[in-house]
Amino acid sequence: MALLEVKNLKTYYYTLRGVVRAVDNVSFSLERGEVLGLVGESGCGKSTIAWSLLNMVPPPGRITGGSIVIDGIDITKLSEDDLRKKVRWKKISMIFQGAMNALNPVFTIEDQLAEPLMIHKGLSKKESREIIAKLLKMVGLDETIMKRYPHELSGGQKQRVIIAMALILNPDLVIADEPTTALDVIVQAQIINLFKQIKQRYKMAMIFITHDLSLIAEIADKVAVMYAGKIVEIGSADQVYGNPLHPYTQGLLASIPRLRKREEIRWIPGVPPDLSRPPPGCRFFPRCQYVMDVCRKEEPVLKEVEPGHYVACHLY
Ligand SMILES: Nc1ncnc2c1ncn2[C@@H]1O[C@H](COP(=O)(O)OP(=O)(O)OP(=O)(O)O)[C@@H](O)[C@H]1O
Ligand SMILES: [Mg+2]
Repeated sequence: MALLEVKNLKTYYYTLRGVVRAVDNVSFSLERGEVLGLVGESGCGKSTIAWSLLNMVPPPGRITGGSIVIDGIDITKLSEDDLRKKVRWKKISMIFQGAMNALNPVFTIEDQLAEPLMIHKGLSKKESREIIAKLLKMVGLDETIMKRYPHELSGGQKQRVIIAMALILNPDLVIADEPTTALDVIVQAQIINLFKQIKQRYKMAMIFITHDLSLIAEIADKVAVMYAGKIVEIGSADQVYGNPLHPYTQGLLASIPRLRKREEIRWIPGVPPDLSRPPPGCRFFPRCQYVMDVCRKEEPVLKEVEPGHYVACHLY
């Protein structure tokens, strides 16, 4: 049985200006220990998927359809109490987008890391200290950091604390939402390396969210490409990088500068659609260089083009 099975997930925001269909009929699954890279342009619904997986979509958002089964339990059907006690942090933990700026300024790092251990595991502060020291070492920090306050740490150090926090109850799945944005490229590379070590050592499943396809090339087993609220292509990393099928994926890959190849860097013209009024048919058609008549009328569904490699495009 897969660790995570998401089926036909729909998460909409009910705003005064209309219904924003941020996640619209999304399905995917994840095995234990597998790393999924979730990529797509700003506003395509990546964070909304992440919030949905914890069943904590901020209002006016709501999961309006589909199921999210983790370890055999459909979390869309659980009460808030059960979610808090059984699922969040323990089974699924999340590194929120921009979380390193959300550390509580009035508590030491030790206090913040001890909290989940005291609440969920009933450990004393003293018992927690040993676990925290070990974990800080694992994420590349000196244990003396424990006594410090967030403002005394660099951005990279804060992000490592946030990562430690996500690992502390040894969850089955860690979701990392843009964990390296706002960090300089050197620190960014260090953090990616840290995730690689975590993958090898803990064999945790991970969902790594980014707008930058090149960032996850080395750690993702599987890649899902999102466009305007939908997954338009999903497959193994080798398949998606080596044989990108969707014109949008091809465009994303062509916009990554390469050092050794003298290829022209291209970008995708146009902007993503307003998700309260998405175009009929394929949501990508207004920007697609291969657009055909059918694309304007009929929505393409995900088709398996080679084993394990799916694409939603009328070209196939
Ligand atoms: N609270 C909200 N109310 C209304 N619409 C929202 C809300 N939060 C997000 N949206 C809309 O839902 C869509 C998806 O947003 P989401 O934050 O999931 O995108 P994202 O892929 O994570 O983007 P980014 O890469 O910028 O983080 C966007 O069109 C956004 O405007
Ligand atoms: Mg986001």
